[in-house]
Amino acid sequence: MINRYGLNSKGADHMAAVLEQRVQDFAYANGFGEHELAEKRVLNGEAGVPPGSLRPGKLLAVQVAKNKVTPDNDIEAIKRDYVYCVDRVAKYADILVVNVSSPNTPGLRDLQATAPLTAILKAVVGAAKSIDRTTKPYVMVKVSPDEDADEQVSGICQAVWSSGVDGVIVGNTTNRRPDALPKGFTVPAAEQETLKETGGYSGPQLFDRTVSLVARYRAMLDATPNTPELTGAAAEATTTAAQVEPDTENTPSVEPPKPSDSLARKVIFASGGVTNGQQAQAVLDAGASVAMMYTAITYGGMGTVTRVKQEMREGKKQQ
Ligand SMILES: Cc1cc2nc3c(=O)[nH]c(=O)nc-3n(C[C@H](O)[C@H](O)[C@H](O)COP(=O)(O)O)c2cc1C
Repeated sequence: MINRYGLNSKGADHMAAVLEQRVQDFAYANGFGEHELAEKRVLNGEAGVPPGSLRPGKLLAVQVAKNKVTPDNDIEAIKRDYVYCVDRVAKYADILVVNVSSPNTPGLRDLQATAPLTAILKAVVGAAKSIDRTTKPYVMVKVSPDEDADEQVSGICQAVWSSGVDGVIVGNTTNRRPDALPKGFTVPAAEQETLKETGGYSGPQLFDRTVSLVARYRAMLDATPNTPELTGAAAEATTTAAQVEPDTENTPSVEPPKPSDSLARKVIFASGGVTNGQQAQAVLDAGASVAMMYTAITYGGMGTVTRVKQEMREGKKQQ
């Protein structure tokens, strides 16, 4: 699938209103009343559900990005864009995802260079920690599969460590296109036209790169962080912290590190080409805590999640 979406963080106002209404409806339905205090009580944990998903065992991730029109070289304005979104939606999220990897917003992927990325992530983490809620949302950064040179991956890991974000979503759609097809294989005319389109390319062709990139991020994030802000204690923390184990049962128990614990092991979610249980298991084995699907669900429907989990269970039984 090729996507041509454009991101506009001004959508944060609308999204915040939708999410707020959702919490208010939940508060009312569960006997907390309908005043502002009711919302606060739910968000602060009195209902016994996560403040974002409002469902035990589930986490709601909300993504933030810069405006397309904000100049690429104005890092202060870019930080303001991200913080603007965080200020509005963070209260209603369990996880905030910082998008620096959409291929369709010109210049966005350049923000993955270490210096701008560190500045943006620090601003987001700061804003996320300042929200008026007892627990603060986790912060993750979603990175591109195309910026995959060793220096790029290590620069991103450096920014992750020095900013204190909780983890990385590896990766997103790609600007690359599949290799030439085997001899004798003819692509229907309509599909040939589709392959010429610009925009992010998603789906099964991404899978091998996703597994390999997850393993590389896992190794680099687990290595001693070499940042000025972190001292020797970080090395110990990164090697001894327990891995978040994947849960293949119906209720996922994803427990990222506490947002305040900047030395906890970084969490990885894998995104790109996962379509079946074997592949979901492979990204978990490579070091991810969560296997994400987009294209597979678009074509296969919501039942895809149940099928993939069932395939994972069967795979485990056969071992
Ligand atoms: C139509 C479409 C829209 C997407 N929109 C977003 C988006 O707004 N933000 C984002 O981070 N990724 C977006 N993605 C990327 C997906 O979340 C996912 O990372 C990518 O498609 C690779 O996973 P997949 O092969 O399972 O689809 C989009 C993908 C598609 C196909």
